[in-house]
Amino acid sequence: MRDTIASDHHRAVTKSLILAHLHRLHTIDSCEQVSPGDISGQYIPMGFDGVSFSREHGLFIDQHRCTPTPRRLSGIMGEGSDAYRYFPDTDLLLAARRGGYDPVLYDAYRDIFPPRHKRSAGLTADGGGSDGEEPARGYWYADLVVYHPGTLPNGEPFRSTGHWNLPGQLEAFETLAGRVLMIMGGYAEGGEPYLLYQACQPGHIVVMPFRGWHLTYVLDGPAVVFNVSTESAAESCSNPGRQASLAGKYRRAEPLAIAMQKLGESYRFVGADDALQEWGRPDPAPRAHWLNEHVRAGESLADFYLYGSAERLALFIDAAWTAYRTI
Ligand SMILES: [Fe+2]
Repeated sequence: MRDTIASDHHRAVTKSLILAHLHRLHTIDSCEQVSPGDISGQYIPMGFDGVSFSREHGLFIDQHRCTPTPRRLSGIMGEGSDAYRYFPDTDLLLAARRGGYDPVLYDAYRDIFPPRHKRSAGLTADGGGSDGEEPARGYWYADLVVYHPGTLPNGEPFRSTGHWNLPGQLEAFETLAGRVLMIMGGYAEGGEPYLLYQACQPGHIVVMPFRGWHLTYVLDGPAVVFNVSTESAAESCSNPGRQASLAGKYRRAEPLAIAMQKLGESYRFVGADDALQEWGRPDPAPRAHWLNEHVRAGESLADFYLYGSAERLALFIDAAWTAYRTI
């Protein structure tokens, strides 16, 4: 099992593929190259040397500054009923926005790596999606999000939008810097509601339950969170047919009306009356010991994505379906 102990040559080739990919996406701009002395940031374990992050300047790969997509409060609140989200004490947020308050809550670096073909031994130069295979099922995807520190006028720490994952979507997160708290909810196979929370520090990996809703809050920011996801086909699971039966249950588009507010140095979970009645308040998430057999000690999620064999990635999907059978 030596397949993530990648050679220096393999890592150098991988890095050059990633840099070419980020140039194509205009995520890095060669004009913004800075000297190493100007980057006094923290090393970020992204699968090869040369990735750093600083609070002042953001994310760098090999002295290239990466340009994120900023997400502001106005963007995640949306406008009108189509973009409905749950926020406690919405009046306080709307009043602040009328006064011009619209902070950047997080910076998104979508597709920070090229898509990883599920059957390939690593990244390929084609950038993904060119062989006619349905992209969502044939590939893994990787994003990186930086949550800024801050608290909204309604007491919520800066946060993500919150959304439901697709029924067969496997999504895993690794916190690389700072701390976040994730809330995960949904319905178990028998229809029972569940609601969990997990505080995450650097090196902590969370795998989302399939078809679940999730929301991320920053506890200590800036917090850097890397994530990988793929659409898993029913035939790749240990229990084919289950996915199809779940697809019919996936009907809810509205978010869970559950949130977290900061109270001095502590936090409390709040929600709309009907949501609290249905889901209650979140319980601590159980420890995912099964993960240790797949993403090993000392191996980052980025290492796993970039250098893990196709077989290991497939086993990971299978293990997630098994682990969440009862959720
Ligand atoms: Fe998601």
